[in-house]
Amino acid sequence: MSGTPKRTSSTNIEGGATFRRTSNTARGSVSAVGRRSEAGLQFTRTQDDLTRPSATKKDMSEWLVKLEHMFTVTPQRMRMIVDGFVEVLEKGLAKEGEDVPMLPTYVFGWPTGQEKGAYLAVDLGGTNLRVCHVELEGDGKFEVTQTKYRLTEEQKHADGPELIDFCAECLGRFVQDHYADDDGNVILDEPLSLGFTFSYPCVQEAIDHGVLLRWTKGFGAPNIEGHDVAAMFKKSLAKFDVPVELVALINDTTGTLIASAYVDTATRAGIIFGTGCNAAYMEKISSIPKIADKGLDQTEEMAINCEWGAFDSSTHEHLPRTPYDVIIDETSNKPGQQAFEKMIAGLYLGEVFRLVMIELIDEGVLFLGQETYKVEKPFGFDTAFLSLIESDTTDELLTVTGLFSHFYSLDTTIKERQFFKRLAQLIGTRAARLSACGIAAIVSKQGYLEDGCGIATDGSLYNKYPKFPERLGEGLVDIFGEKGKGIRTYHAEDGSGVGAAVIAAMTKARLLAGK
Ligand code: BGC
Repeated sequence: MSGTPKRTSSTNIEGGATFRRTSNTARGSVSAVGRRSEAGLQFTRTQDDLTRPSATKKDMSEWLVKLEHMFTVTPQRMRMIVDGFVEVLEKGLAKEGEDVPMLPTYVFGWPTGQEKGAYLAVDLGGTNLRVCHVELEGDGKFEVTQTKYRLTEEQKHADGPELIDFCAECLGRFVQDHYADDDGNVILDEPLSLGFTFSYPCVQEAIDHGVLLRWTKGFGAPNIEGHDVAAMFKKSLAKFDVPVELVALINDTTGTLIASAYVDTATRAGIIFGTGCNAAYMEKISSIPKIADKGLDQTEEMAINCEWGAFDSSTHEHLPRTPYDVIIDETSNKPGQQAFEKMIAGLYLGEVFRLVMIELIDEGVLFLGQETYKVEKPFGFDTAFLSLIESDTTDELLTVTGLFSHFYSLDTTIKERQFFKRLAQLIGTRAARLSACGIAAIVSKQGYLEDGCGIATDGSLYNKYPKFPERLGEGLVDIFGEKGKGIRTYHAEDGSGVGAAVIAAMTKARLLAGK
């Protein structure tokens, strides 16, 4: 079944004029800083400014010792976390209402790799809304064409039905652009089949059904929690007369699992380390006691969307939370939820860093005598900045200099810059090591260690954060010893696009087979 996917670089077609698109994001300007620093245009200061008051080296190194202690997750601690994690995963399969809900997805078994046909996919994940046309060619091959639309903060908190309407409108525009004849009419023999990737915890009772349990990743649109998102989307499609049939509602992790298995049979789990974090894997239906009464074929398997970001949310007995993690939780729009995710995911790492800075500003250790209001804005320090700081290999840490002066109008001493680099390393390493605990829990529970396995992984942290994959690997060796090397993480196929299409194809095949 495995074959070489035709990795067509997904085309970004011009988005509709009425929608904001991805290109002008803040992240674009971050990389611009990197470039400027390389060119040496902006950052000429190589000596500390000795005339301004500066914290003593001792203050900073004392703080570092404290922070290293807080943020280091020892191998022994990791193994304890894994043990607790395995128990929690099992509890979620046994009973409804657990912290980690272990959601049945109604995606039955693995793809054959021979799934074929044209499908549409809509992906509402975190930062963007994406609409894709996916052509599955069999032999694990595919071609993707996509358009991205940037979601505004207002949209994330607008009335729920409005947000879903927006998704349907974007899809309608996409269909119009791709399928209309010269007169602008879309004439089809049958409605196009759609996989809707909705990357939030949904309780499903069928593949085309899903009640939103709770928003995550800072979303808060009212009037969706507790509602069937698939039904809402179908209503919006009818409202805008979009000739599309919603076949499957999926989570991005399930999509990642299936898209990667479509091209590589070694795949055993699909994981996202991005704005949020989560994992999906394939479970024997006979090992999911909470759906024993559904009359499903007990010899089959079903993908489970773990929603592991919620690990340790109510008891706080497993994770080494720092006071900064507690502040993030308590000031978030969802306090008491997603404890694991808030220590790991891209949405939060920059804020952890910023909160440490704020404490040290208050303690009179950093930026003495300077106006610091720009770093005082909550969530005003992007996780992409940690990536930049960690990637700065210049002796004087010139990218760090530029970052602080450009975005926050702050001068930094070399000691401060070295401190920031170490702090970024601590936060990034902790995220990777805790992530390794989650992977290890699935591996242990499923007995994948002996033979080794493939873990398909996607998301900005895995793909862009320096050394994140290497640190994951080191973490797995710290947990399992040398055998941990047999757990291979690799960049996943596009779960929310290709995965949604493969799942739609698998679902149609099951329906045709009368299942
Ligand atoms: C959501 C998951 C999702 C993950 C990665 C989490 O916040 O709850 O459903 O898979 O983010 O996107």
